Amino acid sequence: MKVLVLGCDGQLGVELAGSVPENVEFIGLDLPILDITDAHKVLECCRKARPDVIVNAAAYTAVDKAEADVQGATAVNVEGARNIAVAARGVAARLIHISTDYVFDGTRSTPYEVGSMTNPLGVYGRTKRDGELAVLEESPGAAVVIRTAWLYSKTGSNFVKTMLRLMNDRDEIQVVSDQFGTPTWAASLAAAIWAFVDSPAHSGIFHWTDGGQTSWLEFAVAIQQEALALGLISRKIPIRAVETKDYPTATRRPRYSVLDCSSTQAALGLKPEPWRNNLCEMLKRASPG
Ligand SMILES: NC(=O)c1ccc[n+]([C@@H]2O[C@H](COP(=O)([O-])OP(=O)(O)OC[C@H]3O[C@@H](n4cnc5c(N)ncnc54)[C@H](OP(=O)(O)O)[C@@H]3O)[C@@H](O)[C@H]2O)c1
Repeated sequence: MKVLVLGCDGQLGVELAGSVPENVEFIGLDLPILDITDAHKVLECCRKARPDVIVNAAAYTAVDKAEADVQGATAVNVEGARNIAVAARGVAARLIHISTDYVFDGTRSTPYEVGSMTNPLGVYGRTKRDGELAVLEESPGAAVVIRTAWLYSKTGSNFVKTMLRLMNDRDEIQVVSDQFGTPTWAASLAAAIWAFVDSPAHSGIFHWTDGGQTSWLEFAVAIQQEALALGLISRKIPIRAVETKDYPTATRRPRYSVLDCSSTQAALGLKPEPWRNNLCEMLKRASPG
């Protein structure tokens, strides 16, 4: 089976490239070779590659920057996603498209189900929601949309890497304590995506994150504890709680965005690993000894 991964140099793309199953022939494309906003080029690349499945891991992911760059975020997250779905239909490939917990407004206090009403708070979330709609419209019955959350890995920029850097450079840090979600190792999302590649019967919206829930503050504390134990940082610094209202950012983020992954568990027979176990595993792999 041939699988074309778009956005292969991003956090998720690198994890996908590093975990290709034996029965899969992997083709990866990213900027500057393929810009997904170029509909003709997307179709041309798909015709050349002739994939059975396309995974769209490419996205405009700069959440705050998107507020001042609506056009840029829309071009990639909505029109880019649409271009890929149209091309997938053109070459009769299945499409697995990745979306986000930020399609929700965070006003709930129980996990969001796949059918829960979306109501994004910012440009990034809105463009990702519109991208989902474009994919499902252009590739009905042949597309899987997987919403995930709080992704991190050893590559790219993410919360875990930022915390490790700040814990080395600063004498104290402040972390938001009143936003709740589920940290998700990009490697565990990659495993779920490969399981979907292998399960052609599924289509529609699914959720996948690691197990459990936490706040950014508790996540930072866990990163510090595990990193100290592994010798990735040499000293413990105070981590102070700050409320969202006292930590202004360009975009509003959902207060609570835990995703209910039960339909994915049932569809694939997979059980999410508790988020802290995966954090520990990722840090172990990043540790020198
Ligand atoms: N990161 C998170 O916390 C998070 C949370 C929930 C959902 N998600 C979703 O998960 C998916 C993967 O995220 P990620 O963290 O792996 O993102 P990432 O590290 O930012 O990777 C995205 C990749 O897409 C590429 N890209 C951007 N614009 C493109 C274009 N016009 N044409 C082709 N490629 C383009 C980027 O290239 P450049 O680096 O050169 O721009 C990058 O290699 C995305 O759909 C994202 O929305 C992420």
